[in-house]
Amino acid sequence: MRWLLSCLLAGLLLLGAAVPATGEAIAEAEVDAAIGLWRDSAHGLNDINCSSCHQDSQTKAFVAHPTQESCQSCHQQAVDTFLLGKHGIRLLEGQTPLTPRLARLPMQPAALDRQMTCNTCHDVHAVNTLQAAVDSCLTCHKDTHSLNYQNSKHAQLFAADSSLPRPSSMAVSCATCHLPRHAVKLADGTEAAWVNHNNTFTLKPRDRMVQEVCMNCHGVEYSYNSIFDDALVEANFDQPPSLSLETFDLVRQLEARRTAGE
Ligand code: HEC
Ligand code: HEC
Ligand code: HEC
Ligand code: HEC
Ligand code: HEC
Ligand code: HEC
Repeated sequence: MRWLLSCLLAGLLLLGAAVPATGEAIAEAEVDAAIGLWRDSAHGLNDINCSSCHQDSQTKAFVAHPTQESCQSCHQQAVDTFLLGKHGIRLLEGQTPLTPRLARLPMQPAALDRQMTCNTCHDVHAVNTLQAAVDSCLTCHKDTHSLNYQNSKHAQLFAADSSLPRPSSMAVSCATCHLPRHAVKLADGTEAAWVNHNNTFTLKPRDRMVQEVCMNCHGVEYSYNSIFDDALVEANFDQPPSLSLETFDLVRQLEARRTAGE
């Protein structure tokens, strides 16, 4: 592993040498920064080395700026789902990455040219999922709903319970609703969760988010009454729902029947 690391470093420094004098210093500082972040990351701790991403698996050639393809062999589901959502679909179609400049929704002016890749939400060297779950989103998103999140009880839960390596299942982040977790049973019988990176999956139809997300914690009626209240969505759920869906009696009956059947 030491050997691979020094190979990589040599490669990176060569790259730096190819550009004017200051390029070398930047490359070296970047290498140091990458090593610093990587060392304590889930990758560093699990022996996933620089070469795991920075080396082409077939040609063994050094890759200076790996893409999502370098993640594929180990995180197939994350890559596949990312490419299907609005964030990733341009890459699937062979276009340049999505940037806030292309958006119709309000975006942070400073982020207009930030490219959307695996490196955008969780720095690939730190792979920090906590920062990815809220702070990263708000570096780009600036619509009223997104900004209002900070005023919600959900945000309080997240702030009070931000445990690494993953935000706990009691917290509600932007990602809880928009990049929902799916449970899987591992071969040894234990449960694990993978994150659905398709950021449009839970948007339409709206009841999908109720099923996939809200009902992990709230009752069915509370969830529906919240999610079909446009003002409450805009306010990012800063108070209990005041809506009372007329069709709810039907749902209630169905629910009662289902419970009785159990
Ligand atoms: C999990 C995959 C992965 C691992 C492991 C990894 N890198 Fe990277 N690295 C990337 C990706 C992806 C980019 C491209 C970022 C971009 O272009 O936006 C990158 C970019 C870089 C850059 C360019 C500067 C930058 O931040 O954009 C340097 C320098 C670097 N890596 C060094 C390292 C070193 C040294 C190691 C080992 C300690 C390492 N990387 C481990 C995925 C990885
Ligand atoms: C050679 C296999 C391998 C490659 C390639 C790889 N990873 Fe990982 N990754 C792992 C392992 C092992 C873990 C830690 C165990 C786990 O959480 O599944 C991990 C964990 C993660 C985590 C979760 C971190 C946490 O704290 O829970 C993220 C995010 C991540 N990787 C992103 C990436 C990205 C982005 C790329 C591509 C640029 C990539 N990985 C490439 C093996 C890999
Ligand atoms: C829009 C922001 C965002 C982008 C872009 C993004 N991620 Fe993530 N990722 C997250 C968040 C947030 C979590 C943690 C969510 C949670 O645990 O509730 C996460 C978790 C993960 C995990 C650990 C959970 C799992 O499914 O195993 C892996 C691995 C991962 N991401 C890989 C990737 C890869 C590969 C890419 C690029 C294809 C990518 N991510 C792009 C936000 C993002
Ligand atoms: C690099 C900037 C950037 C980051 C970081 C980012 N997004 Fe996005 N996101 C965008 C852009 C650009 C769009 C497209 C908006 C449009 O077309 O109007 C988008 C679209 C979306 C949409 C779909 C909106 C729609 O109506 O189709 C959702 C939901 C979303 N993002 C949630 C998130 C969440 C949650 C996070 C953090 C985990 C996040 N985003 C991180 C730039 C970003
Ligand atoms: C409790 C769940 C929940 C949380 C937390 C949440 N959202 Fe949403 N978000 C929704 C719902 C519901 C919608 C509306 C879906 C629809 O248009 O049908 C939505 C819509 C959006 C849209 C599309 C807005 C539009 O006008 O089309 C974006 C972008 C978005 N959310 C980003 C975020 C960001 C960023 C955060 C965190 C700062 C966040 N959301 C937190 C549930 C949530
Ligand atoms: C991980 C559990 C969890 C998930 C998932 C979740 N919530 Fe919550 N939600 C809570 C908790 C806990 C509270 C705070 C309850 C309290 O303090 O009375 C809350 C509060 C609320 C409130 C009231 C806010 C207030 O100020 O009183 C609304 C509305 C709400 N949630 C709607 C939703 C909707 C809609 C979804 C799905 C899109 C959702 N929640 C997903 C746990 C969750």
